[in-house]
Amino acid sequence: MENSIEKLVSLCKRRGFVFQSSEIYGGFSAIYDYGPLGVELKNNISKLWWKEMTQVNQNIVGIDSGILMHPKIWEASGHVGAFNDPLVDCKQCNSRYRADEFSQQFSAINWSETKCPNCGTTGMLTEPRQFNLMFKTNVGPIEEAGSLAFLRPETAQGIYVNYKLVQGSMRLKIPFGIAQIGKAFRNEIIARNFIFRTREFEQMEMQYFVKPGTDEEELETWKDKRFKFYSDQLGINNKNLRFKQHGDGELAHYAKEAWDIEYNFPFGWSEIEGIHNRTDYDLTRHEEFSGKNLSFVDQVNNDKYLPYIIETSAGLNRMLLAVLANAYWDDKENNRIVMKINPKIAPIKAVICPLTKKDGLPEKAKEVMDALQRNIKVIFDQQGSIGKRYYRQDEAGTPFGITIDHRTLDDGTITLRHRDNQRQDRISIDQILKAIQDNMA
Ligand code: GAP
Repeated sequence: MENSIEKLVSLCKRRGFVFQSSEIYGGFSAIYDYGPLGVELKNNISKLWWKEMTQVNQNIVGIDSGILMHPKIWEASGHVGAFNDPLVDCKQCNSRYRADEFSQQFSAINWSETKCPNCGTTGMLTEPRQFNLMFKTNVGPIEEAGSLAFLRPETAQGIYVNYKLVQGSMRLKIPFGIAQIGKAFRNEIIARNFIFRTREFEQMEMQYFVKPGTDEEELETWKDKRFKFYSDQLGINNKNLRFKQHGDGELAHYAKEAWDIEYNFPFGWSEIEGIHNRTDYDLTRHEEFSGKNLSFVDQVNNDKYLPYIIETSAGLNRMLLAVLANAYWDDKENNRIVMKINPKIAPIKAVICPLTKKDGLPEKAKEVMDALQRNIKVIFDQQGSIGKRYYRQDEAGTPFGITIDHRTLDDGTITLRHRDNQRQDRISIDQILKAIQDNMA
């Protein structure tokens, strides 16, 4: 793969996609901030996902639940007891590792004979200790046992505990889905690979409530739909996408079957999204812990049961990283870096360039900008040569350049330049929007 993660990190900083958090204080580990282009791209990706779920499917609705919830929810979900990573320390150099970085079957490792990957000392690694990944906080002014709360480690539980309210208020019949986008927090032991594994991130999760017995078929349907989303909607090259099934030892405490969609990142194949058959695990546990009946009543068939849940759980930040990695193109022939971001999600759709700063060209360019900016995100640039302006926007992933020249003043035509192949078309001003939107379909 021609692009390394270092090149991407550098481009992200240079062009305002992603910044290290708290940089002026030396940074804050495993947290990132999204700059002007990054936030546009992130919003465009999440809007596309939201539309795919809640607009394209009549039986999927959205919610937005709190980050802080009743602490008992996390006992019921199993996160208090089982959301742990095995942690290993080196007593020589104080490096810290997740035991499963050494081997998925780490319980078979003899740690006293294992070398520390950092300092190379043998015999100084500790036995694995379980470390809970949830961030704790206190609600109210006094820190006491009763005020303990957790920052949610997944958005899914906010859907489960609201499922009856959503179903009743929208008169939904099984099968139906509930979608949510929001922040999640995990106190990751090892956070690396840029925005791939961070302590604060965004999830886009959809929980599909199905009749027990139909769950395996529904899982297959959702696997298929979700895989297609990456190529058909985000424009990611299929050859860099694959499925990986979780083996017995890898399954999360709630899952009967689980599949990851993986992307071939510069640092290797890694998970972007998980598709899980969570059975009735979560609803059973919430019934137990809340004492409330969470059965679905099927009045048509005179039936009553706890639905099974098929979950599609994607990380927005990882999806964005996959989009960036997929887009990065070192066009050596033309000595330029091009971010070939699908026009549908590109942060800026077009740059508007008056050829010169005089003769009324900037004024005409502003007129064009005014006509377009209510429909699509455009920017104005009159600094430097036209070639430099185009190349600046190639790096930002802007798919179109619009140049206003003297001919524009005479006949109302402009040059529309295409980022990827540098083709230039002469079209009239009133055709610009359609020409761009045709490429965003
Ligand atoms: N509700 C199920 C669930 O949370 P998961 O496999 O733990 O499942 C789902 O997480 C997705 O959330 C992952 O595929 C990944 O994209 C994203 N994710 C998980 N931990 C992350 C982290 N520390 N940093 C960034 N994204 C993360």
